[in-house]
Amino acid sequence: MTDSPDRQFTVQPGGALRGRLRVPGDKSISHRAVMLGAIADGETRVEGFLEGDDAMATLAAMRALGVPVEGPDDGRLLIHGVGPHGLKAPSAPLDLGNSGTSMRLFCGLLAGQAFATELVGDASLMRRPMRRVTEPLARMGARIQTTEAGTAPLRITPATSLHGIDYAMPVASAQVKSALLLAGLYAEGETAVSEPAVTRDHTERMLASLGCPVAVAGSRVAVQGGARLTGGAIKVPADISSAAFFLVGASIADGSELVLDDVGLNPSRIGVIEILRRMGASIDIEPASTEGGEPIGRLTVRSAALRGIDIPRELVPLAIDEFPAIFVAAACARGETVLAGAEELRVKESDRIAVMAEGLSALGITVETRPDGLRIEGGSLTGGRVQAQGDHRIAMAFAMAALAADAPIDITGCAEVDTSFPGFVDMAAAAGLGITAREVSA
Ligand code: S3P
Repeated sequence: MTDSPDRQFTVQPGGALRGRLRVPGDKSISHRAVMLGAIADGETRVEGFLEGDDAMATLAAMRALGVPVEGPDDGRLLIHGVGPHGLKAPSAPLDLGNSGTSMRLFCGLLAGQAFATELVGDASLMRRPMRRVTEPLARMGARIQTTEAGTAPLRITPATSLHGIDYAMPVASAQVKSALLLAGLYAEGETAVSEPAVTRDHTERMLASLGCPVAVAGSRVAVQGGARLTGGAIKVPADISSAAFFLVGASIADGSELVLDDVGLNPSRIGVIEILRRMGASIDIEPASTEGGEPIGRLTVRSAALRGIDIPRELVPLAIDEFPAIFVAAACARGETVLAGAEELRVKESDRIAVMAEGLSALGITVETRPDGLRIEGGSLTGGRVQAQGDHRIAMAFAMAALAADAPIDITGCAEVDTSFPGFVDMAAAAGLGITAREVSA
């Protein structure tokens, strides 16, 4: 298990965000580029790969599974694909750090291999629910052992054979969907997954761009066992989940105007733009291109007076990682914001409903939590001390909150920011945030 020393942020109040920047590569797409490139036939060249701890954990695991990869060199990887049956038994458990995406997708990918593997991670990952993937995979014939609580360590032993299933997911989860599709490549017949609400479809798009047929019909997506992938070129767009902090920061800080280049604008990821616009945010979108099936564009955000809203339920899965930032926007808005149907937030890198409510309350905001969401009364942010509890997105959300606060905000538990956004402090400081970081022994 891995646990890093702590980092604390101190952020001075006020200021504005100005200029032009490109946030690092998309985390979800970076994981998939490594996994799919590894089992493809031939070489895959990746550009814009996120060199953050989570995607690097996927890369290290793939190397431990015998896949030769050159890089990363300034976001460039050259993956020498080993084909679907070329992975080799690793010599030790695969440590996936803080990364739920790595663990759940590897479950699917490794369920159909002829060797055993064990998956572990840091304290947060070892608490996260894994039955949502191991149960449907078991129905396909996979043999994966969890703890009694349904958590890692996960012990995957070779299955006699896998067979396709037609699975209706009880939770809207792209990780579950992707795990089943990856296992489906190794199963007999068709593997189909139906989702109760739209979730990110990067796996489907990347499979198709690497020549693997994917049948999409409404909310059902299916692959055929034995389908092969052909290596190719993958351009990873800037991560809209990282851009979200700047969208909120620039919206709440008077006098801001910020241009965000090359942002991934996949329709299954842009819920944050829709929600912020409904709150009154000024965000212009300039579509640029579609690379490897992923739309990319430039966003321009200017400060605006925000108002509270009832967040439509159908937007929840489309903005699932952006709620820490959205809650900060809600705290700075006039009136109240209500979120429901978001119980998934309780099983992310932290319980994001509880941890955000606690932090916002410490900054003088009235918050009422509910099992599946919360109600935030917009108000004035005081400064103070908040705990990110090792959750990268919560640390960055509270950092942006300082732009609208009237005294400094100290944030503890910020080391995990490197999982998704290496260089956050420097990039945010260059744009105008009064942020400094210091390392402290854990
Ligand atoms: C992800 C899916 C989402 C998201 C996570 C990344 C992915 O998780 O929260 O950060 O890359 O597939 P769920 O599948 O649990 O909703």
